[in-house]
Amino acid sequence: MAKGVVVLLVLFTALSAVSGAHRPGNRALAHGRRPGADPAAQTHLHFYFHDSSRGASPSAMRVAGPANEPLQTLFGAVYVMDDPLTEKPELGSAAVGRAQGVYIGADQTAMGFLQIMNLVLTSAPYNGSSLTVLGRNFPLAKVREMPIVGGTGAFRFARGYAQARTYSMNIKTGDANVEYDVYVMH
Ligand SMILES: *[C@@H]1O[C@H](CO)[C@@H](O)[C@H](O)[C@H]1NC(C)=O
Repeated sequence: MAKGVVVLLVLFTALSAVSGAHRPGNRALAHGRRPGADPAAQTHLHFYFHDSSRGASPSAMRVAGPANEPLQTLFGAVYVMDDPLTEKPELGSAAVGRAQGVYIGADQTAMGFLQIMNLVLTSAPYNGSSLTVLGRNFPLAKVREMPIVGGTGAFRFARGYAQARTYSMNIKTGDANVEYDVYVMH
């Protein structure tokens, strides 16, 4: 019985070695990496994120939630955003992309959002590429870290993390300017 398994294993290994040898793409996949990818290649992106859910032309809006959500936590509230990303802190500085997605009040004891968004890049050299973020954003912390779970274009196979720091915030309106540092392997 055990002998049979060993023979099968040897046969299978030999077969995959043969088929792999003729298809370099397969071999690269077996090693968990695409051909030519440099495991040490890391890209750092730095930009400012502008979230405004009130005012004349909001870039984020509350689309669902309980009638009387607790203001301390916003638990249960769902916001959709299409927030501008800029090179410098000023909203009028060069645009680098948009943050498109949702944030949902998901913590009953403190303000903590489940944030799911695509960073849609629109300036060179990453125009047309995107990164996907899925993580916990707890805006009262000095630094919030969220995983980068994937990407498209220049960022295919992306893995990494984003660090968000509040640059400025309007307490009255909740409008926020957030500095982002994104570190990504791809
Ligand atoms: C980004 O790409 C789009 C589509 O190809 C193009 O229309 C646009 O001018 C590009 N923007 C920049 C800043 O290169």
